[in-house]
Amino acid sequence: MNNVNLKLISINIVIVLILLVGCTKGTNNIATDEVSDTIKIGVLIYRFDDQFISSVIDVIEQETEELNKISTKKIEISIVDGKNQQDIQVDQMKQFIKEDYDALAINLVDRSKASVVINEAKQANIPVVFFNREPVQVDMARWDQIYYVGTKGEQSGLIQGEIAGEYWFDHPEADRNGDGIMQYVLIEGQPGHQDVIQRSQYSVKALQDMGIEVEELVKDTANWQRLEAQDVMSDWLDYFGDDIEMILSNNDAMALGAIDAMRAHDSRLIPVVGIDGIQLAREALKKGEIIGTVFNDNIGQGKMVMNIAYYLAQDLDPTLFIDDIEKGTYYWVDYHKVID
Ligand code: GAL
Ligand code: CA
Repeated sequence: MNNVNLKLISINIVIVLILLVGCTKGTNNIATDEVSDTIKIGVLIYRFDDQFISSVIDVIEQETEELNKISTKKIEISIVDGKNQQDIQVDQMKQFIKEDYDALAINLVDRSKASVVINEAKQANIPVVFFNREPVQVDMARWDQIYYVGTKGEQSGLIQGEIAGEYWFDHPEADRNGDGIMQYVLIEGQPGHQDVIQRSQYSVKALQDMGIEVEELVKDTANWQRLEAQDVMSDWLDYFGDDIEMILSNNDAMALGAIDAMRAHDSRLIPVVGIDGIQLAREALKKGEIIGTVFNDNIGQGKMVMNIAYYLAQDLDPTLFIDDIEKGTYYWVDYHKVID
């Protein structure tokens, strides 16, 4: 972030200089108008009741405050809940367009419907930074005023598999039936989400790469949600009982749901690994209820979403101020292993 801050400072110096020059040329009024100007940024969220996403929203709000401390223009953000329905989100977007918003930050409900959203934005000439739910490349290529901030699902899967594998090596008793094979169950996020296939595939691949033989007992979706995961896990405990030796969960909220199910069944705690590193999962880790998680950097992502939106809203090219924007479009944030 240092780079960004430095660049922010330098752009502010440039703006101050322009204003000063403006004054000497006798355009004082224009200069004063500029200073009191407001930038409006609309933030569209796929659903508010997603634990990881709410941790990103917190950062977006904090970063807006930070930017407001150094920005010559006042930044106003408005954050809306798409309630998991793409139609609602498109309506919210149209409303922002009507109200002359300067830039939009969009966490799509349905990433396969990005083309509709991009066409609206392009027509209204309002730049967009998408985040967390990645439009396909064909859609990203529809306009040069769209950006994406996200993570590589593959990386989170590999780290998750590594955590499960290291635990397996350190705890021979985890192989409950002693057959040398890890019998696991897999709780998946919302179907169609770019992270789901990648996390599931690569966590298993990491285990295999460590030389561990694995057997999938069952997998199912719980849509990223804790309550749904509790239901799914509860059925599996009835059916497989003691046969389950490892639980791989596409996120922390669902890992916590699996723990709820084990508690309700008075079952032993089967080792479980999540992804996200949300506060509740970190507490569960301290209590020994999960064996680890993978930090999905809400701070890095939230900050970058706001910074890109901030430049876009002022018709500035974000790639001039922020390093590492791949292909002039993508900003990738790294995952990190969390085991204590
Ligand atoms: C993932 C995250 C999930 C869920 C999802 C929503 O990156 O791991 O917990 O928040 O995004 O799109
Ligand atoms: Ca076994």
